[in-house]
Amino acid sequence: MPKPKIVVTRRWPEEVETKLVEHFDAEFNHDDAPLSEAELRDAFARADAVMPTVTDAINAAVLGAEPLRARLIGNFGVGFNHVDLEAARARGLVVTNTPEVLTDATADLAMALLLAVARRVGEGERHVRDGRWTGWRPTHMMGTQVSGKTLGLIGLGRIGRAVAQRAHHGFGMRVLFFDPFPPPANVVESLGAQPCATLEDVLRESDFVSLHCPATAENRHLMNAERLACMRSGAFLVNTARGDVVDESALVEALASGRIAGAGLDVFEHEPRVSAGLLEAENVVLLPHLGSATVETRVAMGLRVLDNALAFFEGREPRDRVA
Ligand code: DGY
Repeated sequence: MPKPKIVVTRRWPEEVETKLVEHFDAEFNHDDAPLSEAELRDAFARADAVMPTVTDAINAAVLGAEPLRARLIGNFGVGFNHVDLEAARARGLVVTNTPEVLTDATADLAMALLLAVARRVGEGERHVRDGRWTGWRPTHMMGTQVSGKTLGLIGLGRIGRAVAQRAHHGFGMRVLFFDPFPPPANVVESLGAQPCATLEDVLRESDFVSLHCPATAENRHLMNAERLACMRSGAFLVNTARGDVVDESALVEALASGRIAGAGLDVFEHEPRVSAGLLEAENVVLLPHLGSATVETRVAMGLRVLDNALAFFEGREPRDRVA
């Protein structure tokens, strides 16, 4: 039996690419440049499976490939808002993702952003590197205390829970959350988290707000001007979910007007483009979508795609099937 043909759209950790070759006739993207829409469509026409990631728009045009050879989309990543699931289903494609393995890495990064923006880490680093530091003084670059403050989580799924765990048990924070589908009461209790009836209640009560909801159509611009205005003045926003959950221009305005104190952002509405108003602001910390970017996690994500693909081609149900 010939090995199934797969197209991997971006470079993966070498260890995983080596394993893929053992099981598949694998085509890699050696220069790691994003594929064009035409190249993606062509991949669906030539391969049995396509392994995309968040930078690939797997839309109806791409999935309209004729003839269509692919039967599996093995997404490298937990989020799949870049894949048109309805179009995939309509063309008989199975779609898988990589949950669980990136939970800790992403929660760690959310805490890193929260601490960095509260304690002015980016600003302080620029200060030292630019040679502007003249020495210690009692009023220099005072930030905001994190320990003991209130953290509001929008979404208490896997990553939200891991952030609650760190914040409550590590930093003694009071943790509030809003989630229309909350975890069981014993889980909520073990995290020391308290449910709020509405998202606005969380915003009004929190010193820090961290977003952990999926990028569904309903959640687009969930944090719009009105909701940003519900946040406490002096509060901070952290986003490690998806960029379009926040109305980026409304956020720029809220930051510029001092309506909120700062933001720690790992994701942006039009990646890799970042609004000028954010690039120019001192009170934001900006990262290039690094939530899952540890060697351990990226290897585990790749191996999870591999497991799903092996199951699929052996006629078993892939464990992470989303469509
Ligand atoms: C994810 O897994 O969704 C990360 O954001 C990278 O795509």
